Amino acid sequence: MQFLDNSVLPQSAPHLMLLKYLLVLTFIIFFTYTGILFGSLSLSLFFNKKSVKSGDKLLHNFSKKLIDLITFNKGVSFALGVVPLLSAVFCYAQFLHLTSLDVTGYLLLSLLLFAAGLILTYTYKYTFHLKDIFQFADEKKDSAKTDESLKSEIESYSGKTGNIHRKSGLYGLILLAVAVYLFSGAVQLAGDTSRWQTDNSLFGIIFSFSTLFYFLQFLVLSLALTTSAVLYFFFNTENISSFDETYRSFVKSFALSRGLVAVVLLPLVIALTVVAQPIAALSFGFFEILTVALILLLVLSIMFYIMIKESSIKYRASAIYLLIIVVALLVIKDHFAFDTDTKMHTEVLAAEYVKYEKKTLEEAGLTAAPAINGADIYNGRCIACHAFDHRVVGPPYNSVLPKYEGKKDELVKFIMNPVKKNPDYPSMPNQGLKPNEADAVATWLLQTYKK
Ligand code: HEC
Repeated sequence: MQFLDNSVLPQSAPHLMLLKYLLVLTFIIFFTYTGILFGSLSLSLFFNKKSVKSGDKLLHNFSKKLIDLITFNKGVSFALGVVPLLSAVFCYAQFLHLTSLDVTGYLLLSLLLFAAGLILTYTYKYTFHLKDIFQFADEKKDSAKTDESLKSEIESYSGKTGNIHRKSGLYGLILLAVAVYLFSGAVQLAGDTSRWQTDNSLFGIIFSFSTLFYFLQFLVLSLALTTSAVLYFFFNTENISSFDETYRSFVKSFALSRGLVAVVLLPLVIALTVVAQPIAALSFGFFEILTVALILLLVLSIMFYIMIKESSIKYRASAIYLLIIVVALLVIKDHFAFDTDTKMHTEVLAAEYVKYEKKTLEEAGLTAAPAINGADIYNGRCIACHAFDHRVVGPPYNSVLPKYEGKKDELVKFIMNPVKKNPDYPSMPNQGLKPNEADAVATWLLQTYKK
């Protein structure tokens, strides 16, 4: 992605820090939203298949409710899925500027796959409802006096919709999975400087343990998030009345048991991702945050266990909030690692910015207004012994400077290395100025004394 790298403007160190905070926020939103999206789509597909086989109406309804869980609004999906990915592309383009890595390219590819997956997911959702409408029409068509051509039309479109429905859901899920896998790989590569020179090909990130473990962590997290979201949204007071008792207890026992499995498994997959971290990325802060996340997961497991035991859903709200905090902690921990391992590179970037700033100033003709300022030096160092119009310790400038008119070099030489001039005065002590400082004060004096 050369064009992205070329479009990068060097950033100052504080600005880079700010970008890192932005990236943390981006990741938290992306993983939470995409986790629930991915989980609800795969569970919906699973129950849909089961309901087709068994003809069970309950499974069918659950499958449909699942896909409606988080796809209620396309704008929201765009804002919580696509936008974070897009901003990740630009953040990483900044961080990895001056490396030959293609991470932004992989992220961009992941973004395209993700967007396509999202469109297919929505197709799956809409055709789910359409299919049911056709089904309804199909059942009613014989009882009513419908004409023959309409009947066959209903039949044919009903079949086609069912077909699109199945395929869009499956392909959508595959695309989302590939997008997240690629995203994981790109992010893992970006955070491991030891791999920057060697295996930064697409092949390298696909066949890497760290990518695989990170993706596994996403899958388990996705199950935990989805089951908690099911508990949270399905048992909202306005929802709950529309379900009968069998349906309610089915959803409850499914979500609770799978949720428990997920939160118990999560520490194990997190451990795998930690093992795959480069040593250079580990720090004290990293382990501190990791410990807090693990403690929260323990609390979550206990909550799920109690809910199963009591067959209640009393912790459903705390569970989803705690889980989102865990996601946030995991993301922050990863960024600690990223920060630690790429510290050197961040400094390179900050130095690049200083160089860039200087160049821009030069190009704008502002080199004469650098940090060294003649007036400041006079006020700081010379004023103790010199005034322009009267004698202090040294002679008044107005009387000694005319002889340096057009001979700035000589004046600079004197300031840097004062020699005895006038018997009426003691000699001037050396002020220890650097050449550019002496030059600046000489220029300023020659400009100023005439005024
Ligand atoms: C500690 C007092 C002291 C300070 C501080 C001092 N000067 Fe002087 N300066 C003198 C004295 C004394 C002379 C006279 C020396 C002589 O005639 O030999 C002098 C002479 C000069 C002269 C006249 C040289 C000549 O050719 O007659 C210039 C120009 C000058 N100083 C510039 C500066 C500048 C610029 C600074 C600040 C960076 C400075 N001085 C700081 C004491 C000082």
